[in-house]
Amino acid sequence: MPLAIVRGALLTVSLHIGLALTVTAQNARIKIDLDRTIGEVDKNIYGNFVEHLGRCVYGGIYDPGSKLSNNSGFRRDVMSAVKGLKPTIVRYPGGNFVSNYNWLDGVGPKADRIPRLELAWYTLESNQFGTNEFVEYAHQAGFEPYFSVNMGTGTIEEARRWVEYCNVKEGPYYAELRKKHGYPDPHKIKYWSLGNEMDGPWQMGHMNAEDYTKKAREAAKLMTRTSPEIKLIAAGSSNYREGADPDHWNQTILRELKDVIDYIALHIYVGNPDSNYYNFVSTPLVLEQRTKLVKGMIDVVMQNANRPNRDPIYIAWDEYNVWYRARRGAAATGRNALEERYNLEDALVISGFLNAFIRNADVVKMANMAQLVNVIAPIFTNDKEMFRQTIYFPLQLFANNVFGTALDVFVDCKTYNTDKFFLGLSETTTQQKNVPYLDVSATYSNGELVLNVVNRHKDEAITTDILSQTGTFSGAFSVQEVNGPGIKAQNDFNKEQVKTTEKAPITATGNKITYSFPPHSFTMIRGKLSR
Ligand code: AHR
Repeated sequence: MPLAIVRGALLTVSLHIGLALTVTAQNARIKIDLDRTIGEVDKNIYGNFVEHLGRCVYGGIYDPGSKLSNNSGFRRDVMSAVKGLKPTIVRYPGGNFVSNYNWLDGVGPKADRIPRLELAWYTLESNQFGTNEFVEYAHQAGFEPYFSVNMGTGTIEEARRWVEYCNVKEGPYYAELRKKHGYPDPHKIKYWSLGNEMDGPWQMGHMNAEDYTKKAREAAKLMTRTSPEIKLIAAGSSNYREGADPDHWNQTILRELKDVIDYIALHIYVGNPDSNYYNFVSTPLVLEQRTKLVKGMIDVVMQNANRPNRDPIYIAWDEYNVWYRARRGAAATGRNALEERYNLEDALVISGFLNAFIRNADVVKMANMAQLVNVIAPIFTNDKEMFRQTIYFPLQLFANNVFGTALDVFVDCKTYNTDKFFLGLSETTTQQKNVPYLDVSATYSNGELVLNVVNRHKDEAITTDILSQTGTFSGAFSVQEVNGPGIKAQNDFNKEQVKTTEKAPITATGNKITYSFPPHSFTMIRGKLSR
């Protein structure tokens, strides 16, 4: 009988003749080489998104009638949880909402603001919260606002006027209007996206790629002539449903807008509709495959682009999350729309997305978890309190720790294959082959290594040798783990089952650390590595 050797365990093999032979199995390996770098991590990958949708704005970040709110009407408990995430940049006001939104409805004296029928999510929009309230929120919470213009029902002149209102100091009508509204200084909004998901038939004013690029190019012209320092994000692919052609969309956008845009926005939502854990935790690989595909398309168009003194086009994953439970029918419309409740496996998928952003740090320069509060969100409220959903914790760990140079890490561990499966709604993935149980990224900054490891294995710890190729570990390495009692464990008001736990530090010397990553966990290890 042949001997079998598996990694990460002591294996006892019984031979027919009755002898028992014990073999020490080989550990998994992660090799760190400080010379193998990918690129600099952009702080804007720790972004979020606020849309006029369900209870994200009203009853989420903004609740002027609540005792829990400050003088500006902002929920203090929510603001403190938002600050814990250290969001760098937050996209506003949509999403699908923006494609039937006129920004002028949301500025000026509140008593004069007109309620409007909102057709993306079928609600009445009161317009009590708008541009200036959001900018005020951004100042108090400490992030940079990022606006999306209406390329659906809106005109290019409306978009231009909004840029003037926000960014021009004085003189023309809309700059003066802002001053009249109580904001003498311009808001200096740097990031503007040219519409939202214009490839989706669900979008108000949906267009084909050719029509979108014509409109977006002219909008870009007017917007940049009004405020030359702005950065523009084009609406890349979001539609992967049967019959859609996301590659054609992205290629057209990149070819036609290559001289004017700074980012191409991509969106992804994944889910576990078949309750297949291993399929689901492999979904970050789909994001990574799409990233690499679009990176190739960018490389092609950059060969004959005319963009003197500008960076190449980057990718902004400006909507990403798990979303499949509250995605249809009543759960997807009205005041309580999209109130997805998350569990541990969702948090592992988010950890995988964040790892994928780091592994593609050369091209992914912005990412926005969709959304911030209540609506497919890491923070969840009722009238009296709030709690942090499971997906809060990996984002918090990354946004507070993972900066500097992304390293190209070597990983050797056991793998598995998936079948073709549903990604969430009506999108199907290709089969994912050789999915490593360990999903890893690493950064190096100021002599410190931060290692981020998802153990996708549902039942087994994976004992791993972390090997430095170019330097020595020293001192105490902190270990933080996101985990919970089981893959379906959820948090609730006053019940935090899935969270970050500080583990005993590892004392490291030399060039090897051995650590056993627990099943269904995300672990961040941080400490000194000197050349
Ligand atoms: O984030 C929820 C919705 O998802 C957004 O409004 C839209 O852009 C996407 O389809």
